[in-house]
Amino acid sequence: MAAKILVCTAWPYANGDLHIGHLAGSYLPPDIFARYNRLAGNDVLMVSGSDSHGTPITVRADAEGVGPREVFERFHARFLDTFQQIGVSYDLFTHTDTENHHRIAQDIFLGCLNNGYLYKETQQQLYSETEGRFLPDRYVEGICPNCGFDGARGDQCDNCGKLLDATELINPRSKSDGSTPVVRETEHFFLDLPKLTDRLLAYLDESKDHWRPTVINFSRGYLREGLKGRPITRDIEWGIRLPLEGYDKKRIYVWFEAVMGYFTASVEWAQNVGQSEKWKEWWYDPAARTYYFMGKDNIPFHTIIWPGELMAVERLYEDDPAKTLNLPYDVPANEYLNMESQKLSTSRNWAIWAPDLLERYDPDPIRYCLTAIAPETRDTDFTWADFIRRNNDELVAAWGNLVNRMLSFAYKNYEGRVPQPGDLDDLDRDILAKAENGFQSVGELIEAVQLRAALEEAMSIARAANGYLDQKAPWFQFKEDRAAAATTVYVILRVIDNLKVLFAPFLPYTSQRLHETLGYQGQLFGRQYTQTFDEAEKTHVALCYDDSQATGRWEPVQLPAGQRLQRPSPLFKKLDEDIAEQELARLMGDS
Ligand code: MF3
Ligand code: ZN
Repeated sequence: MAAKILVCTAWPYANGDLHIGHLAGSYLPPDIFARYNRLAGNDVLMVSGSDSHGTPITVRADAEGVGPREVFERFHARFLDTFQQIGVSYDLFTHTDTENHHRIAQDIFLGCLNNGYLYKETQQQLYSETEGRFLPDRYVEGICPNCGFDGARGDQCDNCGKLLDATELINPRSKSDGSTPVVRETEHFFLDLPKLTDRLLAYLDESKDHWRPTVINFSRGYLREGLKGRPITRDIEWGIRLPLEGYDKKRIYVWFEAVMGYFTASVEWAQNVGQSEKWKEWWYDPAARTYYFMGKDNIPFHTIIWPGELMAVERLYEDDPAKTLNLPYDVPANEYLNMESQKLSTSRNWAIWAPDLLERYDPDPIRYCLTAIAPETRDTDFTWADFIRRNNDELVAAWGNLVNRMLSFAYKNYEGRVPQPGDLDDLDRDILAKAENGFQSVGELIEAVQLRAALEEAMSIARAANGYLDQKAPWFQFKEDRAAAATTVYVILRVIDNLKVLFAPFLPYTSQRLHETLGYQGQLFGRQYTQTFDEAEKTHVALCYDDSQATGRWEPVQLPAGQRLQRPSPLFKKLDEDIAEQELARLMGDS
């Protein structure tokens, strides 16, 4: 039976372009996972959007002297282009400033309040006397009370990952003018995490064998240290209003509402496709599995805060008391991708920006290289030299050349058709079995979200196919034994046809081209993207992907002998070794 799979990706702050760290850690893995599940016949819903609120946006707006809306709209539009170009197949990529998100976020707030999980308390907040306002968390820096790191932000320490309260910082200073803020009292709503602790513990204690050890250990450790109530409102102007009288000057805290986006985007998607209740299949059916992809700094928000909110609200737009909202099934968070042995840093411009990268390189080689070094279990290092090497020695040498060589050979020598085979021998049967078994072995690895290993497994089958060719040498067979040559070429084309599907989640563009060269019609994935635009507001709304025309299946394919081929052209380009130096120079020059 088709499984319901919800694929969620962290909502990027729309305050700057996406870079390779985002792609490798948060956006390519879920896309590979979603594409595989669609091919496997599961019902996939993949959602996310731009995080339009929060201090990252207002800090940039202040620096530019423009309003926050201008910043978020600019980068949101660029995100849509980036995701479309690199092929992240969101059913819906929206943003948190939609009417839909505001309304449902307020409903969730009220749900938590009415169920007794929010309380009001007067709080100490850092106030800037020089600026005459309460300072948002990210406007304050200081020493982390947990690890002593000097440079911890008011909301979280980047060094040890601990979520902080700005008042806990030792020697706090304002980021805007360096002055020392004072503590003032203000009333806020708090999420009652102590009241949720037992249920959260039970949730995290349930079998989590399928979770990455880094994620489950961090989360359990976090919870066992004991939770305090967390303020979820702020004295700011940019954000979602409270659905209550008398709180005009307060907004809902960005982290409290951004995670709700997974839910609100699902509802928005259902509206868009004209089946307004359809989102319930992923949120209320206990058999549905929900996956959340992100970088490690986002873990506590997805394993503690968001599950806590879901528990607190209990159910939404659903009367059946037996039904509760689904908690995250898996949170395959990634470690960090470094670059040329240094931590990525957007402020120091030590990053490769996605729009830039996509201007110079094709999407599939980027997808290949970033997946091959995905930081699944530990921090990994991107280097340009490695990018070139992987492109040339792995992608081109092991896969691209195999395809190019054999399709050209078949096209030229068999009148542009798949040749008719004779009897198969053991070598033929072995390599076919290897390719067909790949659906099991690669599929299992993807289901376990071990995407690096899955890609490596597909690659090892391509290498075996090269070994088979070396043994058979059809170019010699062709001169001596035509029938034997035809069998070999038929077998290798069938292996290539199967590999095309095995690689498809990773390399969707070239797999589609190969599909056509092999003489098929139709789309493996459908590949229909639409960007929606609000004419009245003159703003970009969303990126929507529609796979209803998809014909690909995660199962062995039977390439028909006699099928007419298209004239082949190379799937990948070899990259010049000099490029590494040029790119490095560009990087140094920019930073
Ligand atoms: N905007 C946050 C970031 O870029 C991530 C938010 S994920 C969400 O780190 F789930 F909260 F939306
Ligand atoms: Zn710390």
